[in-house]
Amino acid sequence: MTAELALDANETTHFPPIGELISNSRAIPPDTSVKSVADEFFHDAKLEAIAIVESGKPLGLVTRTKFLFTVFRQFGWEIYQRKPVIHLAEEAPLVLPDWSRLDAALTLALARGAQDLYDEILVTREDGSFAGLLSVRQMVVQQTHTLANIIMQKELAHERARELEEIDRIKSQFLANVTHELRSPVNAIIELAELMRLAASNGYVEQVRDRLTLLMSSATNLRSVITNMLDLSKIEAGRMRVVDETFDVVPLLHEVAETTRVLLAGKPIDVIVSTEARALDVTSDPVKLRQIVQNFASNAAKFTDAGRIVIQQTSENGALSISVSDTGIGIHRDDLQKLFVAFSQVEDAHTKSREGTGLGLAITKELAQLLGGHISVESEPGRGSTFAIHIPKEKA
Ligand SMILES: Nc1ncnc2c1ncn2[C@@H]1O[C@H](COP(=O)(O)OP(=O)(O)OP(=O)(O)O)[C@@H](O)[C@H]1O
Ligand SMILES: [Mg+2]
Repeated sequence: MTAELALDANETTHFPPIGELISNSRAIPPDTSVKSVADEFFHDAKLEAIAIVESGKPLGLVTRTKFLFTVFRQFGWEIYQRKPVIHLAEEAPLVLPDWSRLDAALTLALARGAQDLYDEILVTREDGSFAGLLSVRQMVVQQTHTLANIIMQKELAHERARELEEIDRIKSQFLANVTHELRSPVNAIIELAELMRLAASNGYVEQVRDRLTLLMSSATNLRSVITNMLDLSKIEAGRMRVVDETFDVVPLLHEVAETTRVLLAGKPIDVIVSTEARALDVTSDPVKLRQIVQNFASNAAKFTDAGRIVIQQTSENGALSISVSDTGIGIHRDDLQKLFVAFSQVEDAHTKSREGTGLGLAITKELAQLLGGHISVESEPGRGSTFAIHIPKEKA
């Protein structure tokens, strides 16, 4: 991106008034002897200029370079050292009020002749009294700073705008997904209810029973979409509470396996549980832990057509890991980061062939953090994926 250096009118307010930049207020009366001024310059090697001020009013300026040059080279020390310094002062230095903006002041300073270009500027207060001196070098440095800031702020504003666009895009995509996800089960429920009414009025009890089963599954599907949405908004609002209970994780894993088998809908997949021991006590939130593992397992069931799903527990140094591996479609390396972003799915609503709102892993990630843990994922397209949750065995 190219930086825009052209500034519009209200950007000049970014420049500070020069009164804020004064760093040197050295002033002497006009009758100070040239000798004592020379002493001052010798004494303080950093002193670049001294203002000549009488009763608060600036009368002139003595700059180190010009003063010393005049005293020693042109006229001679002997003649001048006892004279009042006002004889050697610049009597028409650039005088600016302290409220002048830096950019305007600098323009005036640099418009001077080459000889005076780097002479200090005399700054006065509103009543014309002496406020201080300003070096041109310092003004240039400050202006560069301010310009860099303006450019950076513009960049940040651009970036923020891009972020907002991205959020907007994700929201629209979410809306498209959710509408789709909510409408399909609702449509199914309405159609099934209509068919049931027909069957019932004709006395076909068997048909009514079959359709009731389908209707239940559509309604359950609908409920899970809504529950996911509520969960996520609860977590985001910081209203999700965590309980601490000591429980055995092994039965929990078998229960998840059982639920997962139901989800397979006849696909040739073995669901296997592998644990280190017959029992393993941990202290955590069992409902949330189960939800996390179940989310992994449901995804495994959804994105695998054949093979195996392995739910495995391991522990090391007080940490518990539960992984779910599958032999499914896998995930492209570039897509791995996206998975945990709410509402994002690897495919979009138009091309996707599998149901889902793209909330599962976003919720899972938040839940893992609530339990003081984190999630890891490894995957290879066409070979399968492993998702794992790692949490402390005991509450810290
Ligand atoms: N085991 C997996 N194998 C392949 N892809 C996966 C697996 N798990 C997740 N994904 C990819 O990550 C995406 C996000 O998963 P997530 O669980 O957040 O959403 P979802 O399953 O599509 O919808 P939801 O869980 O809300 O019903 C999925 O759409 C899928 O593309
Ligand atoms: Mg999911």
